[in-house]
Amino acid sequence: MSRKLTIAIDGPAGAGKSSTARGVAERLGYVYVDTGAMYRAVAYLAMQAGLSTERDTKAIGELAGKMQVEFRRVEEQQHIFVNGEDLEDKVRLPEVGAMSSAVSAMPLVRKNLLQTQRDLARDPGVVMEGRDIGTVVLPGADLKIFLTASAEERARRRFEQTKDQHPDLTFEQVLANQLERDQRDSSREVAPLKKAEDAVEIVSDGMSLEQVIDRIVAIARAKEAEADA
Ligand code: DC
Repeated sequence: MSRKLTIAIDGPAGAGKSSTARGVAERLGYVYVDTGAMYRAVAYLAMQAGLSTERDTKAIGELAGKMQVEFRRVEEQQHIFVNGEDLEDKVRLPEVGAMSSAVSAMPLVRKNLLQTQRDLARDPGVVMEGRDIGTVVLPGADLKIFLTASAEERARRRFEQTKDQHPDLTFEQVLANQLERDQRDSSREVAPLKKAEDAVEIVSDGMSLEQVIDRIVAIARAKEAEADA
């Protein structure tokens, strides 16, 4: 029986992190923890409570400290439950996603979610995915992956995903938006996106999802065996 690992997967939006992390967890029989869903849940609860990201930062921070988060499987899919309620569909709404970006820049929100995230990774056999997992949340993770893709590739994927809903949007606009977002994410004061020094960087341009998953699973299996020897 090989030792189970704690795996951190970080990277920018649009690099395919969620599908990758989910796939890796499934192949290894590990638990998958989507920390972005936690920021989204804070945004959703704040929205429900009528709180403003400009005026009510303290109340939103406190809300994050009171949340009871669990990830449970519902019909073969992992759902986020907060205070016992299934919020999976709610947190995926575009307006919640937009608000989660402001919420995730609040120091008190980050501080309060940090402990919950560490608790969720207490038992090994976890793949935790986000922006600051290898650098801040689990600096001692057994394996750190920084998954990225060129801005053009990420914009192309986003363009393909959204073109039916937004036929007026051009690829150039999506790309400009992507570059602006990258700049904001890597230069913000609180927990900017950056690769941990000891992370393995994977640039997924030209790779299929399966190829990315295979590569990470191979590294993980080698580490599991190493830990065993
Ligand atoms: O990956 P996502 O779109 O579900 O993340 C939602 C928001 O939370 C996004 O603005 C990035 C932010 N986030 C973060 O700051 N730190 C994390 N560990 C995960 C997500």
